[in-house]
Parts: sequence; structure tokens; C-alpha cells
Amino acid sequence: MRYRLEILVVGRSREQLDTIEALVRQQGDVNVTTRHISNGHTDPLHDVHPLPDALVLVLSENWQAELSALTERSAAERPPLLLVGDKGNMDLMRLAMRAGARDLFTPPIAEEELEQFLQQLTRDKHAESSQRTAHLTAVINAKGGSGASLIAANLAHVLAATTERRTALLDMDVQFGALPLYFNLTPRNGLVRALELVETLDAVALEGYIQSHASGLDLLASAPEDMVSVADVPESRVELLLQVMNQAYDDVVVDLPRWIGGSTAAVLEHADRILVVLEQSLAHLRDAKRLMAILRQEIQIAGPRITIVVNRYDKRNSISLGDLRDALPNQDIVTLPNDFQRATQSINVGTPLLEMARKAPLTRELMTLAAALREESPGGRKRSRGWSLFGLGRRA
Ligand SMILES: Nc1ncnc2c1ncn2[C@@H]1O[C@H](COP(=O)(O)OP(=O)(O)O)[C@@H](O)[C@H]1O
Ligand SMILES: [Mg+2]
Repeated sequence: MRYRLEILVVGRSREQLDTIEALVRQQGDVNVTTRHISNGHTDPLHDVHPLPDALVLVLSENWQAELSALTERSAAERPPLLLVGDKGNMDLMRLAMRAGARDLFTPPIAEEELEQFLQQLTRDKHAESSQRTAHLTAVINAKGGSGASLIAANLAHVLAATTERRTALLDMDVQFGALPLYFNLTPRNGLVRALELVETLDAVALEGYIQSHASGLDLLASAPEDMVSVADVPESRVELLLQVMNQAYDDVVVDLPRWIGGSTAAVLEHADRILVVLEQSLAHLRDAKRLMAILRQEIQIAGPRITIVVNRYDKRNSISLGDLRDALPNQDIVTLPNDFQRATQSINVGTPLLEMARKAPLTRELMTLAAALREESPGGRKRSRGWSLFGLGRRA
């Protein structure tokens, strides 16, 4: 699961805040918030909840009061601190050390200095989280009925059935989710209950909410009586659930409903790989472009984390792969063949494709996709080579 650093930049000089914000943003996968103090509290963290992963404090002529406010906080209430101020001032240096500052930079700040600071933060963050870190795949359709649920279910099943890796499938479609049917399972204590009690949940307690399939796949889905919508699920609870799943599994596949808001955005933000599923039609293409814009601009997902899956691909379709590539430039595109009969039968009898039709082209392509996911996960073989080298022949 990915972790995006949250950095808070605080100070009295708007200009400096803007410069530092821009500099931090350049470092890529980081969320930056700035807080301009004009008067009032000297404590730069006054009313800041939750605490960021790091505080960058631009000291003003009021530096003594600003640093004293930080020293008064306990270590637990003080995130890693980076100061921007005058290195030549020995009194300031002393107080900075007492406030637990990791570093003190004097403007202009060099990019490399900041990069080192952020890299260390990321390393600490990883060390902090458990040793087991799940690889998180989120599947979302560009238009209803594209096949996102079928793909999520069968990818998760292939991962569970063909590897030793502990795999979970999370059905985030709280209202209309149908994944239990794919595996002939009946949910009891479902996802909604797990989310309600998420504060008390750990990897062991989580088992009470899961249905296990004979393949080894663990399914977490809503029970039929859970009549809530994803919009009602608070983002913070989804975050906590993901943390528990992160510790309990090697692979987590999430079937997302086509609604982007707090709870689904949380999944997307943490996803190592996002599969956007569409079919070959102008309507799908239009919605896919819209979805990509939301993912890229509003949730700030980097392009390489997204893979477009053209489901029910037919090379005779008037919308060609070339058209898709033009419409969605610089995006990884893979295809899955159409197999209406097997897809329907698999769901009707509740038997995943791998068990029902191992040799069918659709199953094989899903296995290829699963293999690519496995390869990019921490336990995979060639992690850094990444996605795009995989399955060259099949890639669009
Ligand atoms: N590759 C495929 N070939 C044929 N039918 C498919 C394929 N993928 C999905 N389907 C069918 O399309 C329908 C919608 O799929 P579903 O996974 O529910 O879509 P979504 O979750 O995107 O709304 C289902 O009836 C499913 O069986
Ligand atoms: Mg679905």
C-alpha cells in the first residue's frame, strides 16, 4: 500500500510559504498544505488535527515564541520538524534543537536538501508501519457494466489460488455489491459492521467479518441488510480498515463503485495500481476521459499508477486501439477478450473463471494481469522494472 506524505508548511511570510510549497510539490508524491499566520497564536500547530507527517516552519522575527510553543508540546504531539531560518543565529540554533528540529535550512533552500529530508521521512514511515505491506489494487469502471467487478473478483481469485500470498477482495460497493455471488458465499457480519467497529479491529478480529473461499481468498463484502451508500462511509474509517488489511494481507484487491468521494478517494490514494475498466464505445471513452481527469487532477494520481483495461475487446470494433491511445495518451492499455457465455455462467454458478474455464482466453489474460500485479508487489520478483515491461505481446 502506498503512503503519501502529508507536509504542513507554516509561517508568516506568504511569499516564503509559496516558494517552499512549490519546492515540496516538485518532489512528487507529497500532499502539501500551507498555513499562513498573520496574528494570534504563536503555536504553529494550534488546532491542527490530525498532525501532518512533518512540519516545515518558516521562522519569523518572533522565532523565540514560535519555537517555545513547540518545545512545550510532548514528543508525541510534535511531528518531525524542519525549520527555515537563520543558521548563523546561535540562540536560534539552540532553541531549534530543543524543539526537536531535524534540520534548519537558510533560504534559498536547495532542492537536494529538501529531497533528503523527505526521503528520510518516507523511510521512517515505512519502518513504522508493519513489516507486512499489502499490494493494493483498485478496480473502477469508467461506465457501469464495464466489467470492473468481474475483473476484481477474478484477479483476486487468481492471486489467491496460484500463489502462497494472502489475498483479500474488498467489495466497496456497499449498496449494490454482488461479489459474494461470484464465489457462492453468503456474507454474515459484513463490511458495514466492520467499518462501524473499525477502531477496535485488528488482523485477528477482522477474520470475524470475512468469508473465506476454498481457494484461500478472503472476501470482505456487505451483508444484504447493510443498506448504506459509500457516500455515508467516513473516509477515516476506510483509512483504518485499509491499515488493518495492510497488516493482514499480501494482496488486497478492491472493487470500487463508480463514485469518487472521500471513502473511495482514500482507496485510490493508497492504491499501488488502479485499473480503469472500459469498453470500446464513444460513451465509454468520454466517461473514461472524465474519470482520468478526476484521478489525475483532483486526487493527483500519477499516470504510471493507472492501467486502462479495455474489456470485451474486439479488434473489429470501429473504435480501434489507436483511437483509444489517442484519447488516453501516455497510458498503459491492456485488453481482455469478450466471453459472454463463460462470464455469465461463472457468476450464475458462483465459480470463478480459473476453476471453471482455466484455458479460456479471458482466464488466461486475467492470469497475465494478475502476474503483472504480483511482479510489482514488494514480494514480487522484478519490482522496479514495473508494469510496463510486462506482457509485451499482449500489451496494447
Ligand atoms: N470479458 C467479458 N466478456 C463477457 N462478459 C463480461 C466480460 N466482463 C464482464 N462481463 C459481463 O458484464 C456484466 C457487467 O459486469 P460487471 O463486472 O458487473 O461490471 P461493473 O462492475 O463494471 O459494473 C456482467 O454480466 C458480466 O458477466
Ligand atoms: Mg461492479
